[in-house]
Amino acid sequence: TRSTRQYHENVVQHYEKPSNVGSFDKNDPNVGTGLVGAPACGDVMKLQIKVDDDGNITDACFKTFGCGSAIASSSVATDWVKGKSIDEAVTIKNKDIAKHLSLPPVKLHCSMLAEDAIKAAVKDIKLKRSNAE
Ligand code: FES
Ligand code: FES
Repeated sequence: TRSTRQYHENVVQHYEKPSNVGSFDKNDPNVGTGLVGAPACGDVMKLQIKVDDDGNITDACFKTFGCGSAIASSSVATDWVKGKSIDEAVTIKNKDIAKHLSLPPVKLHCSMLAEDAIKAAVKDIKLKRSNAE
């Protein structure tokens, strides 16, 4: 959507200087961790979100052991989830990330990794919170 594109318009930065590289303590009760792999190439992405009591994502980070497109996709994904609720975050589609980065079809699975990682991170925080109840 348009609003998600307002963060910054320089797609090249996602390759040359990816945002939000790092990690949070996965045992923090407010952190959701998604760890996913791409069957097509074996690349792995870890994406983490910090979630407040209202279910809003206040921060996000990633570590990606993979190709440049996967790293750029992680960078976009972590930028886009910040400020969203966890329910909004899971509606982010790999196609939108791929389009944003102008990925060629052969690199579509790299952006899929980001979509899957967001979903896995949200699933993790939901599970943590339901166990804590
Ligand atoms: Fe960074 Fe759009 S160029 S999210
Ligand atoms: Fe597999 Fe990019 S080549 S994640």
